[in-house]
Amino acid sequence: MLQRLKRAEMTPRRVKALYYLVMRIPMRINGMIYRAFRHPTAPVRVHFGPGKKRYLEGWINLDANFITAKIDLWANLLDPLPFRDSSVELFYSFHVIEHLPDAYLPQHFKDMYRCLKPGGGVRVGGPDVGNACRKYLEGDLDWFSDFPDRRESIGGRFTNFVFCQGEHLTALSHSYLRELAQEAGFTDIRFCIPSRESDLIGPEVMAMEEESDLSCPHSIVMEARKPLHPTRTPSGSDERRPDPRPGGAHGPNPHTLSRPGAPRLAGTQGAGPRRVPYLGAPWPEA
Ligand SMILES: C[S@@+](CC[C@H](N)C(=O)[O-])C[C@H]1O[C@@H](n2cnc3c(N)ncnc32)[C@H](O)[C@@H]1O
Repeated sequence: MLQRLKRAEMTPRRVKALYYLVMRIPMRINGMIYRAFRHPTAPVRVHFGPGKKRYLEGWINLDANFITAKIDLWANLLDPLPFRDSSVELFYSFHVIEHLPDAYLPQHFKDMYRCLKPGGGVRVGGPDVGNACRKYLEGDLDWFSDFPDRRESIGGRFTNFVFCQGEHLTALSHSYLRELAQEAGFTDIRFCIPSRESDLIGPEVMAMEEESDLSCPHSIVMEARKPLHPTRTPSGSDERRPDPRPGGAHGPNPHTLSRPGAPRLAGTQGAGPRRVPYLGAPWPEA
């Protein structure tokens, strides 16, 4: 019954896309007005994407959706964050960044870094795709849910988890979150058990992170800090690094390549031994 109600609440993607198209400029203007005239002088704590039920008292709750979410600040996370440099003590974001286009995430982390005061922190969480892969390979159907689509197979439920009817635009894992944080200049990077561990937030906030499997959580949660004595500019590491792909940006498509030195697939680029699935090796993200 609860699942049925939740399913009915899902806004169709096309309606959402239209909403973001129409509201894009008003949201940006609202953010600029906030930054210029209404920004508090004392450091603030900011909660991204509270949605309907996760409003945090004493925080600035920012969301793009003023219709369904309870918010203090109406802004789009795809715009520059409407906070001044070094003016934020803490950013908290739970099941939000997977809704942003993957290509935008490096910029999002750099922008959080810019806004944080030295010593300030971020706690970022979302669906743990590494754990989902593990549970998929173990064949643990019950770990997955049949939301948002009613699915009986483990593959169907895995698709629910990873893509959520096309709502999720990126796949979060330990190594990827770490990379995003490090690239932006964060230090003291640490992964926490959702609803249980934190160096940054109290139990009243953690209590919102419902988690039914503490040994293999559905949510990945990372905390990180801006160093007390940052060595980088607020914009983070913007310098262009050489493209690591063989041949640079115009080299072979990396998605069709296996790891360097791995045997080639028979019948593709010259005969070689057939690759076997990567099953027995230690879990790469652990
Ligand atoms: C899945 S809900 C998560 C709600 C809550 N944090 C929770 O854990 O239940 C994602 C929230 O992020 C907000 N959101 C998604 N994209 C956004 C964007 N580009 N800018 C601001 N908020 C966004 C949505 O409006 C929604 O409230």
